[in-house]
Amino acid sequence: MDISRLMFREGLMEGERILVTGGGTGLGKEMAEAFLKLGAEVHICGRRQGKLDEAARELGERHGGKIVGHACDIRDPDAIHAMVDAIWDNGALTGVVNNAAGNFISRTEDLSVNGFNAISDIVFRGSFYITLDVGKRLIEEGRKASFLSILTTWIWNGGPFVVPSAMSKAGLNAMTQSLAVEWGRYGLRFNAIAPGLFPTDGMSARLSPGGGGGNSHDDMNPMGRHGEMHEIANLAVFLMGQGAAWVNGQTIAIDGGGFQAHGGNFYAALKDMGDEQWEAMRAMIKGTNAK
Ligand code: HXC
Repeated sequence: MDISRLMFREGLMEGERILVTGGGTGLGKEMAEAFLKLGAEVHICGRRQGKLDEAARELGERHGGKIVGHACDIRDPDAIHAMVDAIWDNGALTGVVNNAAGNFISRTEDLSVNGFNAISDIVFRGSFYITLDVGKRLIEEGRKASFLSILTTWIWNGGPFVVPSAMSKAGLNAMTQSLAVEWGRYGLRFNAIAPGLFPTDGMSARLSPGGGGGNSHDDMNPMGRHGEMHEIANLAVFLMGQGAAWVNGQTIAIDGGGFQAHGGNFYAALKDMGDEQWEAMRAMIKGTNAK
């Protein structure tokens, strides 16, 4: 990210302790960088300790401050509990960003139950497990905090060819709206960002393997491009910041107007693919999993 394009003053996030799930790569790493640069203590978690250590070292060297990587598969509630225990040993969190996700394009009739679970266990269940574990501690201790979930515009109109992701993220949108009200009385607020295309390695490998598929509609966007990292980081900082303390229960799209223009989903790009193309896509995607 071009850090000079952050729109906030130095020190804005001082005193904040923020956990970003999936913070070692992709959008999570970009948001973690922005929080760190603005003075927050940042915790990132993901499945691969090596990636997390690399990200923490890189961002720490660039900006100073404290950033810690925790290997934790959020599909495992016990692993989450142990990680949050370790974080809490040095103080409570003031914010959580539910960013970790899994996704791949597939005709729904080609999915197995395991394929569905691989995505929904991360996005739908894992994000809830984190929210519940952290939320219970905050309620018990009477502390305020902010939760942010990274969704997509498919929560509003469905996601053909990415149905487990669309279902899971729509569920998180319901969590955002529900807990904004139920836990608002505890000083916990819940918002979400619905990004359009912000290409990352993980996303491109699984949604646009070989350069085709879902990434190929920048030219359909009203602004003729995809998102830039500082743009989503700025929105995340705004929503997590104390200045937005009365913003609660909102899901904000950041997609250049793509949702209004063409629905923001992959239907048009993928509807005409035949068996052979799907077979080739599947092979390319599976070759990148767990990397
Ligand atoms: C069909 C597939 C498949 C594919 C995996 N499976 N890939 N089925 N087509 N392309 C099936 C497998 O066959 C298996 O089922 C089951 O899924 C589990 O596969 P694993 O490889 O063991 O899964 P795992 O290693 O746990 O990997 C999880 C993952 C992977 C979700 C499948 O993609 C991942 O790790 N992703 C993390 C990063 C990521 O996805 N980032 C992109 C996020 S983009 P069987 O039945 O064979 O056992 C995003 C939104 C973008 O979220 C919004 C844009 C607008």
